[in-house]
Amino acid sequence: MDTADWNASAYHRVSVPQTAWGREVVERLQLRGGETVLDAGCGTGKLTRLVAERLPQGRVIALDASADMLDGARKELASFGTRVRFVQASLPKLPLVEKVDAILSTATLHWVLDHPAVFAAFRAATRPGGQLEFQCGGAANLHRLHTRAEALAQSAEYRDAFVGWTEPWCLASAEETAAQLQAAGWTRVRCWLEPRPTAFADDAAFADFIGHVNLRPFLARLDSGRAQRFTAALVAAAAADRPPYVLDYVRLNASAWAPPEGAA
Ligand SMILES: C[S@@+](CC[C@H](N)C(=O)[O-])C[C@H]1O[C@@H](n2cnc3c(N)ncnc32)[C@H](O)[C@@H]1O
Repeated sequence: MDTADWNASAYHRVSVPQTAWGREVVERLQLRGGETVLDAGCGTGKLTRLVAERLPQGRVIALDASADMLDGARKELASFGTRVRFVQASLPKLPLVEKVDAILSTATLHWVLDHPAVFAAFRAATRPGGQLEFQCGGAANLHRLHTRAEALAQSAEYRDAFVGWTEPWCLASAEETAAQLQAAGWTRVRCWLEPRPTAFADDAAFADFIGHVNLRPFLARLDSGRAQRFTAALVAAAAADRPPYVLDYVRLNASAWAPPEGAA
């Protein structure tokens, strides 16, 4: 699980790229307006809002592991009243009392290491004929930033803080994800990787973003002085890239369906 704390108000402010990618996933949902949809890893609810707006007679379950993120989502989604229910849970645990018609998850599942367990839990929580649409970090996502950050973490200045470090993300290929979804009982499975390089205007915008999103697991092991120096070193490296301040994002997308009622 994603253990480093999220700063919900900072994420709400900087998550412009995630919101743009997530909109495309919300648009893939085939809804009539009365369904119940789970948003797994809802964050502060910006995309959950778009789902709720498509469900005038339906409901949304907004699930997240982070209490701070859920507090943000409660504020963001207050106007929907009881049509949105909030659940604090850490995937692959999925303590739902009802089955849902569809599951959406955006920019979350790479923070959950056991993908087969997540796909099985999603399948068990979905009604026959229900839809699954997700997007998360995929193979080679942020390879340049991760390589630099891990080399820095193992340098003499920082290595004492990174004893026992293991990567807290799972960046899967489209092929292995498709096989895992099929093994969990999903049908009509389609998975694909999509490079989404993302540029920032200057050193301040780049530092603000990586400090609140990508580097959280690294910075959680450092005191504030060392965290600032760690971030500054990675900002300086990105300044020397051509073009500068670009994050090499690669997104893993998946669409799948639960078998209809009565299917073998
Ligand atoms: C990058 S944010 C994405 C939020 C939102 N879906 C979006 O696209 O902007 C990742 C979210 O996943 C949540 N998360 C990480 N690991 C989780 C887990 N094991 N179970 C549930 N939520 C998790 C985090 O708390 C955070 O809110």
